[in-house]
Amino acid sequence: MKDIDIQSKYPTIRLDALPKHVAIIMDGNGRWAKKRGKPRVFGHKNGVKAVREATELAAELGIEYITLYAFSTENWQRPRLEVNMLMSLLVDTIGKEIATLNDNNIRLKAIGDINGLPDKTREALLEGIEKTKNNTRSTLILALNYSGKWEITRAVRQIASGVLDGTLTIDQISQDTIGAHLNTQNIPDPEILIRTSGEHRISNFLLWQIAYTELFFLPIYWPEFTKQHFVEVLEDYQNRERRFGKTSEQLEG
Ligand code: IPE
Ligand code: IPE
Ligand code: MG
Repeated sequence: MKDIDIQSKYPTIRLDALPKHVAIIMDGNGRWAKKRGKPRVFGHKNGVKAVREATELAAELGIEYITLYAFSTENWQRPRLEVNMLMSLLVDTIGKEIATLNDNNIRLKAIGDINGLPDKTREALLEGIEKTKNNTRSTLILALNYSGKWEITRAVRQIASGVLDGTLTIDQISQDTIGAHLNTQNIPDPEILIRTSGEHRISNFLLWQIAYTELFFLPIYWPEFTKQHFVEVLEDYQNRERRFGKTSEQLEG
C-alpha cells in the first residue's frame, strides 16, 4: 500500500512521527479463557489472532520493530501441561505464519535463551527466522525464554570475560558496551511498551531498554487486542511530550 493510502486508512496517525520500536507484554490469555469457562490454553490459542493484528499494523505503518513477550524465564514454573501446550502452540503457529510473514515482508527474530527451548520449538523458530530473513518492511521479535535480568547477567559475564582476557579495560566499559552485549544489540530501544490485562508491572521484560520508554497499560485481555487498540496507543503516544530529563521550554527552543 502507498503511504497516501495508509494515511487515509489511519487518518489520526502522523506517519512522520511513528515509533521505530514497539514492545508488547501479551498478558491476560488465561483470565480471558477462564471468563468463558474454558481452559487456559484456549486463551493462548486465541491470543494468536491478536499477534496477527499487532504485527500486521506494524508492517502496514512501517514500524520497524515489534517485540512480543511470549514466554518468560519465570513461565517455566507454570503447570507442565500448560508449558508443553505453549511450546507446541509456538511450533504450530510459527509453521503456519511463515507464509503470511513473507506476504507482509516481515522478518522474524528472537531474543532470549533460545538454547533452553525444547528442540522442536527451537527448530521451528530457527526455520521461521531463516525463511523470513530477507524481508525488510518490519521485524517481529519474539521474546522466548527471555527475561531482562537473564539478559543483563549474560552481558555482565561476557564483558567480565573480555576484561579477563585483555580485549577490554574497565575504563572502556560504557553504556554502549552494555547495550552491545544485550540480545537487542543494533535494535533501537522501544519508544512504546504496551501491557494488556490491566496489570501494572514489567515482569522482567526489557529492563535496560525501557529506561525512557512510554508505558501503556490497557484494561483488556490479550485475545481482545485489535488494530484499533494499537491505533489508540499510537495517537496517545503522539500527544505525549518526551522530555528525556529536559524542561518543556528547552524542547520548544
Ligand atoms: C499471557 O497470558 C501469556 C503468557 C504468559 C504465555 P497469561 O497466561 O499470563 O494469562 P493470565 O495473566 O494468567 O490471565
Ligand atoms: C509476563 O506475563 C510474561 C509474558 C507475557 C510472556 P506473566 O503473566 O507471566 O506475568 P506475571 O507473572 O503476572 O507478572
Ligand atoms: Mg499473566
